[in-house]
Amino acid sequence: MKILIKNGRVVDPANNLDKVCDILVDNGKIARVAAKIDCAAESVIDAKDKIVMPGIIDMHVHLREPGREDKETVLTATEAALAGGITSVLAMPNTTPAIDCAENVKLLKSIIKKDARNFVFIAGAITRARQGEEVTDTAKLKKEGVLALTDDGSSVDKDEVFLEALREAKKSKLLIICHSEDKTLSADGAVNLGITSTRMGLRGISRESEYKRVERDIALAREASCPVHIAHISCKESVEIIRRARKKGIKVTCETAPHYFALNEEAVLGFDTNMKMNPPLRAQEDVQAIKQGLADGTIDAIASDHAPHTENEKDIEFERAQFGVIGLETEGAVAITELVDKGILDWKGLVRKLSVNPAKILGINKGSLGKGSDADIVIISPQKKWTVQRDKFLSKSKNSPFIGRTLKGVVEYTICGGKVAFSR
Ligand code: DOR
Ligand code: ZN
Repeated sequence: MKILIKNGRVVDPANNLDKVCDILVDNGKIARVAAKIDCAAESVIDAKDKIVMPGIIDMHVHLREPGREDKETVLTATEAALAGGITSVLAMPNTTPAIDCAENVKLLKSIIKKDARNFVFIAGAITRARQGEEVTDTAKLKKEGVLALTDDGSSVDKDEVFLEALREAKKSKLLIICHSEDKTLSADGAVNLGITSTRMGLRGISRESEYKRVERDIALAREASCPVHIAHISCKESVEIIRRARKKGIKVTCETAPHYFALNEEAVLGFDTNMKMNPPLRAQEDVQAIKQGLADGTIDAIASDHAPHTENEKDIEFERAQFGVIGLETEGAVAITELVDKGILDWKGLVRKLSVNPAKILGINKGSLGKGSDADIVIISPQKKWTVQRDKFLSKSKNSPFIGRTLKGVVEYTICGGKVAFSR
C-alpha cells in the first residue's frame, strides 16, 4: 500500500528538515522524501499549506483498561489519540488491577492486540499494587516488553524502596518515571496552595509537595546512577531543580502537560472540576517558568496526562471530584496555540517535544521521517481554528479543561504504521 503526500511543509528535526517536499510511504515505511515525487499510489494526499510531521508520541496516558472501562478503553482512547495526531502512547499502569506482574502485562497486551488503533507501549508498576512497599519483578516485566516503570498517581515514599527500585531498573535497563509528590505535604489538597486555595476555602497542594520530591527522586537516581524521568512538572522550582541537575550531568529528563502552560490557577476559581488535576494548575509565574523550561530545553517532552473520569466522578463537589483531565484530542492544538503561535517554540522545537524526545526517552525507534522509518505521520492545518466542544470528543470521558476554547491547528490526517488511520 503506497501513500503519496504532496507539497506539505515537512518538519522533521531528526533529519534537520523543515521544507516543502513530498513523502512516499510504502509498506508501512517512509520510502522516499524528495522535492518532487511522481509515482502511482493507492492514495495521494494534497498537503499544500499543511504541516507534515512525525506522529505524536504521548508518553503519559491513562487508558483505564483493564478495570475502568466505564471511563475509557484501549479502543476509545486510541481512537481519540489518532484524532489528536497521536500514533504512539505509553499506557500508565494505575489500572485495576495495576500492571505490576507479567500476567497483567499479558492481559493488557491481549486487549491491545485486539483493540488498539495505534501503537500502545506499556509502563509497569514500580511496586506491587502501587503500594510503595514491595518492588515488582522488574526483570519479568522487562521480558514481557514494558518500556518503563512508574507508580504514577503516587510516588514511592520510602527512600529505601525507591532506591532498590532504581537499582533493579538499572539492571533491567528500564526507565523509571517519577510521579513526584510528597503526600505528607499535599494530602487532602484540591487546588494550588496560596491565594486560590484561600479564596476558594479549599485545602491547598503546596509546590513543595512537588519539588521537594523532585529533589529527592533526582538525588536517589544519582546515588543509583539510574536515569529517571520526572512526569508532569507544574511549578517553577521543579524546572530550576532539573535545570541544575542536568548542568551537573545527572541523567534526568522531564515532561509537562498542556494544561500547565495554557492555564493558571485562576481557571479553578469557578469551581469547574474539569480544572482539577494533580499536580494542580499553578500560579502565572509557574506557567512562565514552564514555558521558559520548554524554550531552553530543560523540559524535554509534552505529554497529555490523559486522565479520563466519568461524569459521576466529576460532576460533584470540588473536593470530592477526581483529579485528572482528558487531553489526547487537544494536546497538539493547545501546544500549537500556546507555544508555536506565541513564538516560544518553532515547529521543529514543537516536534522535538511531541515526538523526537519522547521516542528518545523511551528508547523506541520512532519520531523520524527519514527513509526507512516507520510511517507514523500527522498532517496538520496550522492556521485553521476550531472550538473545543464537549460532545465532539471521541474519548469516552469528557473532562477536558479546554471545552469552549478556540484553538489553532487541525489534525487532517493521521497515518499510523503506513495506513491512513484517521482523516477529518
Ligand atoms: O490528575 C491526575 N490524574 N494525576 C495523576 O497523577 C493520576 C491521574 C489519574 O490517574 O486519574
Ligand atoms: Zn501522575
